[in-house]
Amino acid sequence: MSIQENCRILDHQEVAPQHFKLVVASKYISSHAQPGQFVNVRCSTGYDPLLRRAFSIHRTAKEHERFELLYQVVGKGTRSLSQYCVGAELDILGPLGQGFALEKKDIAILVGGGMGVAPLLALAETLKQTTKAIYVLIGAKDKARVLAEKEFNAITDQVLVSTDNGSYGKKGFISDILLNVIENTLDPSYLPLATIYACGPNPMLKAIADIAFQKKIPCQVSMEQCMACGIGTCLGCVVKTRTGYQKVCDDGPVFKSEEIVWQD
Ligand SMILES: Cc1cc2nc3c(=O)[nH]c(=O)nc-3n(C[C@H](O)[C@H](O)[C@H](O)COP(=O)(O)OP(=O)(O)OC[C@H]3O[C@@H](n4cnc5c(N)ncnc54)[C@H](O)[C@@H]3O)c2cc1C
Ligand code: FES
Repeated sequence: MSIQENCRILDHQEVAPQHFKLVVASKYISSHAQPGQFVNVRCSTGYDPLLRRAFSIHRTAKEHERFELLYQVVGKGTRSLSQYCVGAELDILGPLGQGFALEKKDIAILVGGGMGVAPLLALAETLKQTTKAIYVLIGAKDKARVLAEKEFNAITDQVLVSTDNGSYGKKGFISDILLNVIENTLDPSYLPLATIYACGPNPMLKAIADIAFQKKIPCQVSMEQCMACGIGTCLGCVVKTRTGYQKVCDDGPVFKSEEIVWQD
């Protein structure tokens, strides 16, 4: 069940150019959120913007009654959100949507492109309790925009980075790194023991889904769509799936990659 909670801001820092980490106090959402779920935030005290904005839950600390968001300033809502100071309250609705299904597999491969790393930290922290090996693959435009690498390094020593311009990590797409890990790092006999979890731009997710299909590895993707209501009533966020259109906010945002009818 989701609720509306007024959450006090405990910390709010710019962690990369135009990228912020926001820590808020919350009794309910912090203790009920599952990895891959999101919240809808009212980003101003007035009516502009009118609609709430969706953000993945980046990390939860149930025992400290707080959770974190990681976001990029792209427009009016996120610009307004970035002006909020520590001590202010935010009107937050959550937790929303269907998160990642936690597979009891030995190997988890987490792939995040750009802001797509946001939901993967909570996932990695949960999986580390049950999974033998966690690979985290982070793709970014450039070195300055590589997000949460330090936090992932604290969970696993298998963090691999690619940047579009080669300013850090390997030059190229993170899907190429995934293919390399599957073909050259993992023992082929371990592939049936692996699950891929991915979040990022749609072309990246499609490339990851193709690789997962070829290599017969189960894959879950967290989809992004522009959202209006965020609670399943407006039908503004649908994606085409093999069983018809489904709502990203309510049926997702996480889907099995083979369910999605990928558009070019
Ligand atoms: C389930 C879900 C989880 C998300 N998690 C995060 C997160 O953890 N961190 C983060 O920074 N962002 C996340 N987003 C995206 C975030 O909701 C949008 O960036 C935000 O709504 C933009 O609001 P704005 O008013 O600043 O920009 P707007 O002025 O509304 O839009 C600016 C530009 O961004 C595009 N845009 C807006 N929303 C989306 C969207 N959902 N997907 C793709 N393009 C969009 C618009 O078309 C426009 O070009 C998530 C979105 C969804 C659906
Ligand atoms: S945003 Fe309204 S149904 Fe998903």
